[in-house]
Order: sequence, then structure tokens, then C-alpha cells
Amino acid sequence: MLIRPMTMADLPIVIELDELSFSQPWPSDAFAMELFNPNARCLVVEVEARVVASIVLWLVLDETHIATIAVHPDFRRQGIGKALLKASMDAAYAEGARLYHLEVRAGNAAAQKMYADFGYEIVGRRPKYYQDNGEDALLLTLDLTEAA
Ligand SMILES: CC(C)(COP(=O)(O)OP(=O)(O)OC[C@H]1O[C@@H](n2cnc3c(N)ncnc32)[C@H](O)[C@@H]1OP(=O)(O)O)[C@@H](O)C(=O)NCCC(=O)NCCS
Repeated sequence: MLIRPMTMADLPIVIELDELSFSQPWPSDAFAMELFNPNARCLVVEVEARVVASIVLWLVLDETHIATIAVHPDFRRQGIGKALLKASMDAAYAEGARLYHLEVRAGNAAAQKMYADFGYEIVGRRPKYYQDNGEDALLLTLDLTEAA
């Protein structure tokens, strides 16, 4: 497994991954915009030269927002999501990130379990946040500040 920065050449497969993974995928030009966003960190995972997972994080001062993470359905439950999340959080930590935030669908038990394993805690709920089905979003935070 190779974890490396996302490039423009990866975009077709990254967009496909997004569409396979989410009922409300990002607009098709969103990933390209993130590659030019100085606050974004975009990584992919390659297995045998095939891109099978991606993540986008936004860094602002000591805070990081996990904007999206997806693993190809055929490659799930093999530790790839966990490895990608850890690698990107470690890289963000090295850049000064101490507070990690994200939103997850209330019904997305798989992702919630992964984040709980990392120590993320539910700190809020946005009712009817997702437009496609009116599902609530849970707000998760991991606080790695010294005070915490
Ligand atoms: C969430 C997602 C990224 C996890 O990727 P993955 O490569 O399958 O995850 P891993 O194999 O590294 O598993 C990490 C942990 O997540 C949890 N997990 C993952 N899939 C799970 C499932 N189907 N049921 C229960 N727990 C699950 C487990 O705690 C697992 O650890 P374990 O294998 O030691 O028990 C993947 O399911 C995915 O792409 N889902 C669709 C997109 C999505 O929901 N992204 C998150 C949006 S917030």
C-alpha cells in the first residue's frame, strides 16, 4: 500500500470513488479546486498501482477538518481507511494541527466506528443536514491539545 499526494492525473478515479461511496457526491470540479487550495491536503492510496482510496483535509491554524474520505467498496475492511486517516492526521499534526473535526451521517455506523477507534467524540448534531434524504449529521472532534 502506498499513500501519496493526490495529483490531477488521479482525478477521474478519485471522482469515481466519491460517486461510488456517497449518495451526495461532491461536484465534479471540487477535487480539482482542492488541489489548488493552499489549506487543503489531498492524499490517495495506491494498491498495486491502482488508486483505491482518497482523503481531503482542510488545515486552518491548529484545526483540521476532514472534508472527505472514501475507500473503493472492493477494498474496504482491509485497514486502508484507518491507514489513510492515520497518515493524513499525522501529517496534519506535523503541521501544527491539534483539533480534528468532521461531520458524519447519523446512519453511517462503519465510519463512526472507525472515528471512535481513533478517539473522536460526538460533540454536536446538525438536524436534517444532508439534502438527499434529510439525515442528521453528527459533529465529531478529536482534541489533541496539551490541555486535553
Ligand atoms: C468509512 C470507510 C472510509 C472505512 O474504510 P475501510 O478501509 O473499510 O476501513 P478499515 O478497514 O481501515 O477499518 C477501520 C475501522 O472502521 C470500522 N469499520 C469499517 N467498516 C466497518 C463496517 N462495515 N462495520 C463496522 N465497522 C467498520 C472498524 O472499527 C474498523 O476497524 P477494525 O477493522 O479494526 O474493526 C469506508 O467504509 C468508506 O469509504 N465508506 C464510504 C464513504 C464514507 O462513509 N466515508 C466517511 C464519511 S464521514
